[in-house]
Amino acid sequence: MFGPLNRRSVLTGIAGAAALGFVPTRFAIGQQAKIKVGLLLSHGGAYAGPGIGVTNGIKLALAERGGKIAGREVEFVMVDDESNPAKGPENTHRLVTGEKVDFLVGPVHSGVAMGMVKVARETEVLTIIPNAGFNAATGPLCAKNIFRTSFSNWQANAPMGKVAIDRGYKNVVTITWKYAAGEEMINAFVDRFTDLGGKVVKQMALPFPDTEFQAHLTEIASLKPDAVYAFFAGSGGSKFIKDYAAVGLKSIPLLGPGFLTDGVLPDYAEAAEGILTTLHYADALDNPENHKFRAAYKAAYGKEADFYAVQGYDAGQLMAVGLDAAKGDAAAKAAIIAAMEKAEIKSPRGTFTLSKSHNPIQDVYLRQVKGGKEVVLGVAQKAVNDPGTGCKIA
Ligand code: BEZ
Repeated sequence: MFGPLNRRSVLTGIAGAAALGFVPTRFAIGQQAKIKVGLLLSHGGAYAGPGIGVTNGIKLALAERGGKIAGREVEFVMVDDESNPAKGPENTHRLVTGEKVDFLVGPVHSGVAMGMVKVARETEVLTIIPNAGFNAATGPLCAKNIFRTSFSNWQANAPMGKVAIDRGYKNVVTITWKYAAGEEMINAFVDRFTDLGGKVVKQMALPFPDTEFQAHLTEIASLKPDAVYAFFAGSGGSKFIKDYAAVGLKSIPLLGPGFLTDGVLPDYAEAAEGILTTLHYADALDNPENHKFRAAYKAAYGKEADFYAVQGYDAGQLMAVGLDAAKGDAAAKAAIIAAMEKAEIKSPRGTFTLSKSHNPIQDVYLRQVKGGKEVVLGVAQKAVNDPGTGCKIA
């Protein structure tokens, strides 16, 4: 796919020529050109907040490097993916074939990721997914040029299956948005929970990004499960938490992946009190990288960082590892990929490496909202490695 005669090897030859006093114009111009990074993220609707977090995070990683990677300035080109899966391929092409970006970074939404991954595979553009958990992106649809700095939908949710059993919950109702991420997240939880003896009383789903929860909440009250497992995110997550409390359901424990509660504090602190979640990050993680990152983010943006920002920041870190190894030559894909595959990212979430299918191998933490704060109760599952089933990277 990225054969031995790539631009990097051509550059080696050119460097030799330069030593002899001959510098071709194309090389001189190429070295001055900015690295073009395409950001395919949601600019409005339920996932506007996550889109902003990722953008701020990657820009912070760049600012920490003086605005340059491997001596080259970086230019961002932003496209709104509209959280619209149907427009995924078209919006991706605007960046890849239209803008000819060196790196593609996005999206937030798993449905959009389906179309984006298809284009990334066809065009072989260097790609980093900074949020969407779409399992297949690092499973059957994996590719040499596609990396992820976030999570797989399976990875963030399976650990809670055991936590729920350990807490004595036997009968659970699940509720989510009906799209790839919702389905994959609920399946991951349900598979682990039922394997360990739990029973799912009812599975509920609303179209994305619907937030008319009332009828479902009324039904949950009548079913009286031991607990409810929910995936909603962004502004939909905040609305669900608020409505759940408002109809008096707080006596039924609410569980979910951390997407549910991230970004809801401090505004919905009372409604969120007690919610138990699993995620690969928590604001309160006590490590030097997290303290430094959170302080720098607050200084730069005047607000607290969330995990979307962490994932964007780590996308910037991973990109820098690749480009540094290739001495800034964005066309040297084989060298960039080789370095990224071996990367050890010192992330605010804790250091992580990448699996063979290019998904982070990372601890998943158990968190609970207590006294208006997201408290880390411990590690729900250590070094969770998505199996990457069906991934064949040559
Ligand atoms: C997703 O669609 O993959 C997703 C969106 C928001 C939070 C987490 C996952």
